[in-house]
Amino acid sequence: MAIQISADQRTFTLQTKSSSYQMAVDAYGVLLHLYYGKKIEAENLEYLIYKSDVGFSGNPVEAGKDRTYSLDCLPQELPSSGVGDFREEMIRLYHEDGSCAADFRYEGYEVVKGSYEIPGLPAVYDTEQETGETLIITMREVSSDIKVKLYYGVMEEENVITRSACVCNCGTKKVVLDQLLSCNLDFMFGTYDMIYFYGRHAMERNLERVPVKGAKVEIGSRRGTSSHQYNPAVILCPPETTEKNGDCYGLCFAYSGNFTARAQRDQRNQTRVQMGIQPDQFRFVLEGGETFFAPQVIMSYSSEGFTALSHQYHDLIREHICRGPWKHAKRPALINNWEATYFAFNKEKILKIARQAKELGIEMLVLDDGWFGKRDDDYSGLGDWFVNEKKLEGTLAELSSEIHAMGMKFGLWFEPEMVSEDSDLYRAHPDWALQIPGRQPNRARYQLVLDMSRKEVVDYLYNQISDVLEKASVDYVKWDMNRSVCDFYSSKLPAERMGEIPHRFVLGVYDLAERLLKRFPQLLLEGCSGGGGRFDAGMLYYAPQIWCSDNTDAVNRLDIQYGTSFFYPTSTMGAHVSAVPNHQTGRITPFATRGNVAMAGTFGYELDLNLVTDEEKAMVKEQLAQFDRFYDLTHEGDYYRLTAPKEGELMVWEFVAKDKSKAVSGVVKTDAQGNPLPLHVPVAGLAPDRKYHCSYNGSVHTGSVWNNCGLTLVEIPKEYESLLIEWTEAE
Ligand code: DGJ
Repeated sequence: MAIQISADQRTFTLQTKSSSYQMAVDAYGVLLHLYYGKKIEAENLEYLIYKSDVGFSGNPVEAGKDRTYSLDCLPQELPSSGVGDFREEMIRLYHEDGSCAADFRYEGYEVVKGSYEIPGLPAVYDTEQETGETLIITMREVSSDIKVKLYYGVMEEENVITRSACVCNCGTKKVVLDQLLSCNLDFMFGTYDMIYFYGRHAMERNLERVPVKGAKVEIGSRRGTSSHQYNPAVILCPPETTEKNGDCYGLCFAYSGNFTARAQRDQRNQTRVQMGIQPDQFRFVLEGGETFFAPQVIMSYSSEGFTALSHQYHDLIREHICRGPWKHAKRPALINNWEATYFAFNKEKILKIARQAKELGIEMLVLDDGWFGKRDDDYSGLGDWFVNEKKLEGTLAELSSEIHAMGMKFGLWFEPEMVSEDSDLYRAHPDWALQIPGRQPNRARYQLVLDMSRKEVVDYLYNQISDVLEKASVDYVKWDMNRSVCDFYSSKLPAERMGEIPHRFVLGVYDLAERLLKRFPQLLLEGCSGGGGRFDAGMLYYAPQIWCSDNTDAVNRLDIQYGTSFFYPTSTMGAHVSAVPNHQTGRITPFATRGNVAMAGTFGYELDLNLVTDEEKAMVKEQLAQFDRFYDLTHEGDYYRLTAPKEGELMVWEFVAKDKSKAVSGVVKTDAQGNPLPLHVPVAGLAPDRKYHCSYNGSVHTGSVWNNCGLTLVEIPKEYESLLIEWTEAE
């Protein structure tokens, strides 16, 4: 049983394969958090709570003269504003009289089979086997008609517990929701680090690890999207946890908008961890009868270090977040024209790129930015999703059918949420862009953002995009998004509801994606936001792959893909071989290395293959054959990070088949030294008692030897050279 409830129906224990989570309703109806960690029996853990009279931590009236009972000290599931817990709250709301207090007490529970859906939002879903179970706990505010339902989805096999919350204004008086986070996690004991992934455009997801102490550690986004700057996924772990050992807790937000993830120690050294929609730009008005759903946080725990935690997330995302026919089907190796031509292309140029790509075995041509409206640079055209037939010397359908006739699929770039001031769309509907009357809007890449909270805007985009997709039989869409969002003002909403726009914007994006996928169920969507500015579990629900970064430099990509891999499987990471000197860094790396790095992702090319040498063309064929051969490993296998950025001269990663019959390791020499020292390649994940042949030195050893002793390179690769090493089970 994934959800175990005590005989008195006051203690709830959520059991996954290797973890347990416990909460209990106390004598006053407060929902206490008691445990999250390694699997235990469902015994009541209330004895863990230490009560004492803590100065300046007040007591609820029911406690009478008991000065040891304080909401300010108790570990809770739904800490609320203004009623005596002075730490960060999970929910904050304003009543009609202007007061800001909410005191939620237990009302009841229900258990439902399977996972749960959240209206308009992505959520972990069950496969046909319905492995999940959901506990819904209802909490009632003591002095008003407001209820909160706390959702706990237990994915037993996956070691995952999902969290969400829904607020219902069940009365008639208006309530202003000022904050609703999706999860609160109170650790009574222990010392923790927080690991997060920060960066910037073209340098996303660098790992940083900081101790959580009395000062708040907080990351998040106020950019309208999840952002390049901080990814909406964090790990909490004791200071000693490593890749291979120790406790760790992941919190991963299935949401693509503003977020916060924060942790802080309280006066008693308890650690409170929270995740949810970033409250500073959030305000939702709930009239009587209205409800608000918080997006989902996916929690997972491992007692065996980060690698095991990552495997849990990878399996979950591949199986229970990614959807549609491309979930497991082999995705096409593609060629994208962006870095080959930028805006300067015509039909012949594109066909020439496609012909050469086809000859070498590439399966799909993706036509990037510049095929529509007036768009020969990034100053105009966004929003005008009409084919520029002059530039394409004919219709898009003609171009697409020529590509299809070559035996290739055809993909197309869109940036649905954007509008250029120099566009017919903007001239016709200036109020469709987010801008505040009487104020100049902020421009980024010289473009404005459409008000995706408006249904007519989403409808327009749906119709225009559908029309193009249908007429040109498009197989794939790269959905780009090239700026952060501000100037939140919608002419369709009353003043008091302006704080709803950032969230309504995200709902509009999801609605458009969902509608397009319903209409074109075979469509493969690739998410993108200037590369990895919206790389999150929310987008992955619609797009099973996301362009990982605008940085295609193979050496920088090692670090970016490393950071991305903590939560997201390599099957979701768009990765391409591009030209040298690299357009972002100027670095020159061998063609083989660019291929080996891109193979740890959804593989493709982003250059004009007419311009490479014959030797490199031969390598393309070889790389494509390898991509096919290793596909089940790179897209379905277990991924191991075997080194970390800037720690030595090598970056090493490995994919191991789920049945342990084979593995492949990628090795890149990231630095060079004179009089070189021996280089050692770590190995992991092979079955200890089975024997494996190593393609590098031809020797056979047991998995136990390889895993523990690794491999010494007999020849030191030169700077930026790389190797792929295969491990095959031997008789
Ligand atoms: C940003 C993307 O990340 C690039 O790959 C490319 O599609 C450009 N936008 C086009 O404007």
